[in-house]
Amino acid sequence: MVALTQSIEITPKPGLLTVETVEIAPQTTAIRCLDWDRERFDVEFGLRNGTTYNSFLIQGEKVALVDTSHGKFEDLYLSILEGLIDISKIDYLIISHTEPDHSGLVKNILQLAPSITVVGAKVAIQFLENMVHQPFESMVVKSGQKLDLGNGHELEFVSAPNLHWPDTIFTYDYKTSILYTCDVFGMHYCDDRTYDENLTGIEDDFKYYYDCLMGPNARSVLSALKRIQKLEIATVATGHGPLLKHHISQWIGRYKDWSLEQTKKEKLVALFYVEDYGYSENLVRAVAHGIDKTDVVVELVNINDVELQEVREIVAQAAGLVIAMPPQSSSTAQVALNTILAAADNKQAIGLLESGAGEDEPIYPLRNKFQELGLTEAFPPILIKETPSEVTEQLCDEAGTDLGQWLNRERTIKQIKSIDNELEKSLGRISTGLYIITAKKGEVQSAMLASWVTQASVNPLGVAIAVAKDRAIESIMQVSDRFVLNVLEEGKYQGLMRHFLKRFPPGADRFAGVRTYPAATNESPILAEALAYMECEITTRMDCGDHWVIYSTVQTGRVAQVNALTAVHHRKIGNHY
Ligand SMILES: Cc1cc2nc3c(=O)[nH]c(=O)nc-3n(C[C@H](O)[C@H](O)[C@H](O)COP(=O)(O)O)c2cc1C
Repeated sequence: MVALTQSIEITPKPGLLTVETVEIAPQTTAIRCLDWDRERFDVEFGLRNGTTYNSFLIQGEKVALVDTSHGKFEDLYLSILEGLIDISKIDYLIISHTEPDHSGLVKNILQLAPSITVVGAKVAIQFLENMVHQPFESMVVKSGQKLDLGNGHELEFVSAPNLHWPDTIFTYDYKTSILYTCDVFGMHYCDDRTYDENLTGIEDDFKYYYDCLMGPNARSVLSALKRIQKLEIATVATGHGPLLKHHISQWIGRYKDWSLEQTKKEKLVALFYVEDYGYSENLVRAVAHGIDKTDVVVELVNINDVELQEVREIVAQAAGLVIAMPPQSSSTAQVALNTILAAADNKQAIGLLESGAGEDEPIYPLRNKFQELGLTEAFPPILIKETPSEVTEQLCDEAGTDLGQWLNRERTIKQIKSIDNELEKSLGRISTGLYIITAKKGEVQSAMLASWVTQASVNPLGVAIAVAKDRAIESIMQVSDRFVLNVLEEGKYQGLMRHFLKRFPPGADRFAGVRTYPAATNESPILAEALAYMECEITTRMDCGDHWVIYSTVQTGRVAQVNALTAVHHRKIGNHY
């Protein structure tokens, strides 16, 4: 083993940075960038023991670099790497996922090794194209695909989507039995020790990291664990913290137990689609986004890449099913559909959409079968007649939200009932005005009635609005989006209020029959019957449990009736609007 350690000190911030290189197996070197004093990760994730960013060099007849490092290690990492190899001779750069703390130096590597081939999941390569803004050779890999580096270093890729990032892959080297997992099985722990011999000293950090990053995707963790169970693993080469060698079965076992525990608590919707067929993936992702807003867990299942037993298990666990129609000609898809039908039950919700490739399995016969089984249709079948636009995606998004809201209906009622009576009465004494928020972003527009609105600053002029996380309009109220705050008038608000409180089906035009004209700064509809309006731009969103508090600066505004008053909303109880 060769252990070479270099360190530089930069004080007071960002603190001590050092790099350790260790030969962890034949022709395999770990380059561990130690960030001793990092205090935060992902904004809300406090660190007590700093962190490390681990990168690996595998030198077969061909040479592969597995991940890079954080941008703050630019000089140090590149000089260490140059000491190990002529960077221009590296053949492959394997991207386990594209988060900047591991891919922060990809651009530098591309400059130093212009003919390098970047290897990653399809989504990772797409993300990278947007990150580096320069052409590069790439190889998109799927689960089970192999890459032979020579000298026995045959690599196999395992897709592990959603293990923190959508584009995550693992890489297994058959020669060294090392599984490269990047974020997975990692921990934010900075220490001279390369390995995990100190189990009791690091297990709390391992659990904290799992809770913050992996727990929210427990189902995806379980799927990934299944994919690696056949591998004999000597070392788990993680991207953060010590490498795992001494207690591997314990660490993997803990991930399994925690994930099983976690999945018992959640409501799940399984979304079935066929990869690379029509627009199915994009449409299903839009439905998934809409479901996600309601705090229901989603699992995307590529029908062509799943065992039938897994389909049965997922359907049995799911409270809702969404199917993007597969091609008629695919016998694999036919068998999968029959398996879904056989495992479905009448307590589940179902939603169907076309994939739009022109050869879809017809939607209505399948819909009839689910209806005969007694499943509840969460949204009407989504038909794709032309190339999907932003409006189609909005429709899918809203359909997903409707599905999630239906699944949460009992929880919502329980929550309303659970508030202490005196407390809810006192909260109910908070009174506000009545407003219609209208927004347009690209081709998509939406509206909602709001009463939780207040002025929030004078300099700059700003307002704050509480928007429920599962509101349709929430998708187009992100930071830097624009909207109009329309003020309703006392005595004249009923018509508009009734209109915007209607239960709109997914994708419906909420402005049909309403007189509007476009705002100067953002084209959001201004309601002609409003007492006043303000054109706003969102600068901050604060996570407040079931709502986002959205703070916006106000650019311009106008009052139609100087002497008229704003409609006031009085309530008796504080557990609804
Ligand atoms: C009097 C009243 C005030 C409301 N105020 C708010 C609000 O401030 N924030 C919010 O998210 N929803 C509020 N709502 C609910 C929305 O109006 C919402 O449009 C409606 O439930 C439909 O939801 P959707 O737009 O997601 O389909 C209010 C509803 C009522 C009846």
